[in-house]
Amino acid sequence: MNNIILTGYMGSGKTSVALALIKLSSFTYLDTDEIIEEKAGKSIAWIFKNKGEAYFRKLESEICLSLINYNNTIISTGGGIVLKPKNRASLKKAGLVFLLEASVEETLNRIAKCEQRPLLQVKDKEDKIRKMLEERKEAYIAAADYKINTNDSSIEEVAYKIWQIYRGKYE
Ligand code: S3P
Repeated sequence: MNNIILTGYMGSGKTSVALALIKLSSFTYLDTDEIIEEKAGKSIAWIFKNKGEAYFRKLESEICLSLINYNNTIISTGGGIVLKPKNRASLKKAGLVFLLEASVEETLNRIAKCEQRPLLQVKDKEDKIRKMLEERKEAYIAAADYKINTNDSSIEEVAYKIWQIYRGKYE
């Protein structure tokens, strides 16, 4: 329950920051997308394509509910996990929630290398990112205890900032 939970849009740096946080802490690591893939025995892309987004969201909510059972864990979440109010409630119970924010331009740069994300298989990625960020803005804010802007900071700087806030709260 005293976990560090990272939320934010695709490409906001959750996985990289989580790995940097592990070096600062002695915490273990959990990625909700990885757990879904392990449980389903399929990739996220496969699940979206063959079972649909609603099925993926169902698995995601189940994982979210189980996060309360973890302690001292850095939890990196899928970018859409905050969309359901019940997931937001589960996240808040499981730990301190840090929202990683990045501009549309920065997000576009960061995701350019990774073509696997099912929701970004569109021609005009910039437009899609802009629209999704606008649609999700309130859900991200509602879920977060702290907002961290990542545009002009290194992964290590963001991790250090989060670790300082967390320690101030729990130690
Ligand atoms: C999603 C983000 C992805 C993954 C799925 C849906 C989203 O995770 O959960 O493709 O709705 O934003 P990342 O944010 O780790 O890419």
